[in-house]
Amino acid sequence: MYFCSMIKIVILGAGNVATHLFKAFNKSDKLSVNQWYNRNIKSLQSFKNEVDICDDLALLKAADIYILAVSDDAVQELSQALPFENKLVAHTSGSVNIHDLDKKHRRAVFYPLQTFSKNVEMDFKNVPFCIEALEKNDLSLLKTLADSIGSPSQKINTEQRQTLHLAAVFVNNFTNQLYRIGHEISDVKNVNFDILKPLILETAKKVQTVSPFNAQTGPAKRRDKKTIKKHLKLLESDLHKDIYKLLTESIQKTHGRKKL
Ligand SMILES: NC(=O)c1ccc[n+]([C@@H]2O[C@H](COP(=O)([O-])OP(=O)(O)OC[C@H]3O[C@@H](n4cnc5c(N)ncnc54)[C@H](OP(=O)(O)O)[C@@H]3O)[C@@H](O)[C@H]2O)c1
Repeated sequence: MYFCSMIKIVILGAGNVATHLFKAFNKSDKLSVNQWYNRNIKSLQSFKNEVDICDDLALLKAADIYILAVSDDAVQELSQALPFENKLVAHTSGSVNIHDLDKKHRRAVFYPLQTFSKNVEMDFKNVPFCIEALEKNDLSLLKTLADSIGSPSQKINTEQRQTLHLAAVFVNNFTNQLYRIGHEISDVKNVNFDILKPLILETAKKVQTVSPFNAQTGPAKRRDKKTIKKHLKLLESDLHKDIYKLLTESIQKTHGRKKL
């Protein structure tokens, strides 16, 4: 059974997620990365002394699980191109349906709900995995895989995962773009962005114990019209003005005065 022998893994893809997964799997004595595939072998060259690297699907080795950590749009096509069947094949995407994997495989999802950049360290205890499989034994294997790298995991279906992915775009990508705008605005007036970093940390820390609703502060919630007007005047870009207005409207709608 999976639990008493080493889990053999083949990773496909060599981007942010694949690289972090390789490093995490490689550290575990319960897992063995048998091979690492990418269509372009160059990205794997620096790992050639640590693992068998390959750029030819026909040469893929036997494994307990094949993890497709490739761009969302490539998942379906790559799963179809795999030259075997009845093997456990999992993708790592937040938005791709489990049924987009070719049905000749035992289909699964191993989605890490985190943001990965190749050169930024990741502690896998802070990486919750959303796991999904069409067969019960495969789900157990996915759980063991997450356990082996110290990550929490939860059984989540495709619809729930796609919703989580959408929420993640708001709390991560959009928030990060707002940091970027803050950076641009402060740069214009030669103010160092670093002074905003404790505020960024406190904002993220506060929602660990208080709901986002209760954590909100600022001119939009207070309806400080004069301050809002001043901010809009200070903004030079029309796009930034539109974003400011839209978010102010959203905050005011959320914190609208209760009708008596
Ligand atoms: N980055 C994150 O924070 C994050 C978090 C959770 C989940 N995910 C998911 O994990 C997956 C990988 O994301 P990533 O950020 O690691 O992507 P990435 O850094 O952009 O890497 C994409 C990988 O996919 C390969 N690829 C692209 N098109 C291909 C094709 N047609 N056939 C075969 N391989 C192809 C690329 O190969 P080349 O090197 O040859 O271009 C590369 O190895 C995606 O499904 C993504 O949604 C990402």
